[in-house]
Amino acid sequence: MTGDTLRIAMPKGRIYKKAAELFREAGLELPEDLDESRKLIIPIPELNMEFIMAKPVDVPTYVEYGVTDLGIVGKDVLAEDNRDVYELLDLGIARCRMSVIGLPDWQPSFHPRVATKYPNTASRYFRERGQQVEVIKLNGSIELAPLIGLADRIVDMVETGTTLRENGLVEMEKMFDITSRLIANRVSYRMKSDAVQALCDRLAACESVKS
Ligand code: PRP
Repeated sequence: MTGDTLRIAMPKGRIYKKAAELFREAGLELPEDLDESRKLIIPIPELNMEFIMAKPVDVPTYVEYGVTDLGIVGKDVLAEDNRDVYELLDLGIARCRMSVIGLPDWQPSFHPRVATKYPNTASRYFRERGQQVEVIKLNGSIELAPLIGLADRIVDMVETGTTLRENGLVEMEKMFDITSRLIANRVSYRMKSDAVQALCDRLAACESVKS
């Protein structure tokens, strides 16, 4: 890796394919199946870049600690995990929203419970509205919680709404829109400013980023 090689944390999973598409639109050819490989560190010398394939929730941690210069991560993760990083660009990809969800016959209860993968986001939201709720952290399949009586509502991401429909749930309140962001380590942003700026310029010229 040369001194001006950009090391970028890429989220595995649903965001990767969209991020790779965006990089291709920007003229930076990334292999389509990078996230399916078991290899975690992928140098692409032609681009002067090295990609770290990361779990999405870990991307801001790598960037804050400077083990990667840049990262691509959803606003859901950034809002939940308040890391000391620069948010450089809204990439406009992986659009979805964070919402409060419940059963259609939901009634306010004496001891409301909210299940979520995003406890900080959920706590902040209800606190700001003066509503006292108990927040229960889950790690996945959040939609189960109201169906089996663990919580009366959930806070979760909605993209197509299919998961909600298939489980007979309804979106009660939209909290905020989510897109993926390009984030930078504060030191890298200064030390590798030319390479960072060049990448930002190329990405910023893409349709999804402009709109
Ligand atoms: C996310 C989210 C919802 C679903 C929403 O889950 O937690 O369950 O996607 O997408 P939709 O509106 O298009 O149906 P994910 O697939 O990340 O898995 P998880 O259940 O492990 O959280």
